[in-house]
Amino acid sequence: MITRSRVFGTGMAVPDHIITNEYLSTIVDTSDEWIRTRTGMKERRQVRPDQAASDLAIPASQQALEEAGLSPQDLDMIIVATISPDTLFPSTACIIQDKIGARQIPAFDISAGCTGAIYAHTLADQLIRTGHSKYILIIGVELLTKITNWSDRSTCVLFGDGAGASVVGPSENGSSGLLGHHIASDGKGASMLYIPAGGSRMPASRETVDKNLHVLFMKGNEIYKTAISTMSESCHILLKQEGLTPQDVDLFVFHQANLRILEAVGKRLRVSPDRVFVNIHKYGNTSTATTMMAVHEAVQEGKIQRGSLVLQVAFGAGLTWGGLLWRW
Ligand code: COA
Repeated sequence: MITRSRVFGTGMAVPDHIITNEYLSTIVDTSDEWIRTRTGMKERRQVRPDQAASDLAIPASQQALEEAGLSPQDLDMIIVATISPDTLFPSTACIIQDKIGARQIPAFDISAGCTGAIYAHTLADQLIRTGHSKYILIIGVELLTKITNWSDRSTCVLFGDGAGASVVGPSENGSSGLLGHHIASDGKGASMLYIPAGGSRMPASRETVDKNLHVLFMKGNEIYKTAISTMSESCHILLKQEGLTPQDVDLFVFHQANLRILEAVGKRLRVSPDRVFVNIHKYGNTSTATTMMAVHEAVQEGKIQRGSLVLQVAFGAGLTWGGLLWRW
């Protein structure tokens, strides 16, 4: 009986092109000072016009597979968390399945906003623990610069492009791996963060394009408050489940949406800032990719080691929120 899933390898990919705060201040009425002090962001990455989500997802996946010491043929499933897929259908996961040379395994996308990676790992954990699948490739990828309103200063400074990947499989011992997960949603907050057109409610038309309705709309202030309360809630639920306290956690990996949100959650939990991972200054908000890229970088930097207790927590469009408690 498998008791836990664990991460065998991680990877990430970001485009080379950097968008600086200084550049943004040439296209909208903003400044480096405003963006840095209100968000903690200094730069973010942008793909080329001809690139799609799978173009970042594939190198991130290959790195995760290599680190895991596995080949695409070893995979039993591919789950992609994204709200900026290559196309509405088929799923980006199917495109990746073909391009990396995996077998004819199940492959599908899930839409849970910035919490997508947390949802995907929760789902994968169930499938691994029941013996349905052995190795699952999970990718969180987002090309938010493709759905950004570049004339809206309250949103265009926040978002970037990136992909994070992990290969999960059965833990060989009962002590390491995913100790607990928590996922939740509240659709009452659906209009806080959404793209109005392009779905069946408002299909693409000349009018939707003229009115610029294929880009992201956000009620930033409301999201800000909800982010702090929901991420704190997920931390408390997960720690309580395991009889642990915030002081037991070696590293908190929060969704990188705003440095002030990360600091506020850290303060609520009464943990020192050095235990809260931050890479928002380099990549901005890459939605579902942020916590996966952050976990990858934290592993590379030695901030997550074998045996570390890691709390990975996110919130996002839906509204959705949740967390994963790992014994690495
Ligand atoms: N540059 C300069 N000024 C800006 C600006 C920018 N890029 N964006 C907004 N402002 C202005 C506003 O117009 C407002 O001006 P006013 O007082 O004259 O009306 C002022 O700054 C304050 O705006 P406010 O929205 O209250 O700022 P804030 O401190 O709440 O920061 C966000 C705005 C968006 C950075 C913040 O609310 C946030 O991070 N929210 C969460 C967003 C998020 O996480 N989204 C993704 C969810 S996954």
